[in-house]
Amino acid sequence: MKIGIPKEIRPGETRVAASSDAVKKLIAMGAEVVVETGAGAGASLADDVFTDVGATIGPDAAAVYGAADLVLKVQRPMTAAEGGVDEAAMMKSGATLVGLLAPLFNQEQVNDYASRGITAFSMELIPRISRAQSMDALSSQSNIAGYKAVVEAANAFGRIFPMMMTAAGTVPPARAVVMGAGVAGLQAIATARRLGAVVSAFDVRPAVKEQVENLGAKFIEVDAADDQNAETAAGYAREMGEDYQRRQAEVLRDTLKTQDICITTAQIPGRPAPILVTEEMVKGMKPGSVIVDLAVETGGNCALSERDQVVVREGVTIIGHTNWPALVPTDTSTLYARNLVNFVDLMIDKEAKTMSVDWDDEIIQGALLTRDGAVVNPAFAAKEL
Ligand code: NAI
Repeated sequence: MKIGIPKEIRPGETRVAASSDAVKKLIAMGAEVVVETGAGAGASLADDVFTDVGATIGPDAAAVYGAADLVLKVQRPMTAAEGGVDEAAMMKSGATLVGLLAPLFNQEQVNDYASRGITAFSMELIPRISRAQSMDALSSQSNIAGYKAVVEAANAFGRIFPMMMTAAGTVPPARAVVMGAGVAGLQAIATARRLGAVVSAFDVRPAVKEQVENLGAKFIEVDAADDQNAETAAGYAREMGEDYQRRQAEVLRDTLKTQDICITTAQIPGRPAPILVTEEMVKGMKPGSVIVDLAVETGGNCALSERDQVVVREGVTIIGHTNWPALVPTDTSTLYARNLVNFVDLMIDKEAKTMSVDWDDEIIQGALLTRDGAVVNPAFAAKEL
């Protein structure tokens, strides 16, 4: 059983789907591991980090994809239509692909995996049950993104975060608001607090109020008639109704006038991110304020964010990187690789040293996109080949 780890080739992607520890564990499970030369370079992981623990190095992508029974990736494969190499075309028919495949935004590509006979698993779709916590790549990556967002904000801000009493006078603390208190948002709250900011936060899901308060931040309430159904059974946010959106906008407009830093993290799975900060709200903010938009990949929470750009609008710096985990590649690669190993553990027979998937396992079923030439995930039922 050969596991292939290719170099990520999407622009800006610095992560790799491997670490020394992960390769060691995969080999202990009975696999042979082939890593493409230079695959870890963006994350400061040289080829010998992998060879030292028993991996072999493939000279190019074709050698790695062509040999692998199981391909581990960070990003979904590049396609010819996107102007790149067709990565999936290099895979063997019948091979398995595991990665952050963003299937809800790339349904055509999911059909393509099926027609090529690839068994594809999407790390984003692993159910968030306690048994799968160690495989939860959304959490491992968002957590670090939330931290990095605050560090970038602090760097772009012309003042400091903590209150400082000096002989030359007292500097007031920065005020930060975090919008969306999921994994990234909670880490952003904790990080901004550690740096000394006065932090407030809000979320459509009332359930997070206590978590926000436990981190020492103030929870901003939005009173609206239709705020009862904000959370899905899986714990994600729903798109909110008009009354809620109007009330939310009023509260945010007033809040933002008093803030220095705004970190937005609001996402709705499979949908464009909600616009929470309008152009008018940016105009109302103090000059020198900083907005960090963590939702730019899915359209952005701020109307003035620009993909992968840092722009200054109305005196406010707006940071719109799309790939935050790639800004901290050594830690995000290491955590992601651990998530992968824990997931792959479910599909390997260590005695026989072969792939052996329990198709009835709810984690396997949740993450599985395609099998035996068909799209099998219920989320894509209408799109089956
Ligand atoms: P996410 O990345 O999908 O969204 C980020 C946050 O934005 C969420 O808290 C969401 O409620 C909020 N949001 C969406 N629309 C909004 C709006 N219009 N205004 C304000 N906020 C808005 O969420 P993430 O971080 O992936 O977490 C989703 C859920 O999964 C949470 O309930 C979290 O506690 C839960 N979770 C469970 C885990 C487990 O049980 N293993 C592990 C990690 C998270």
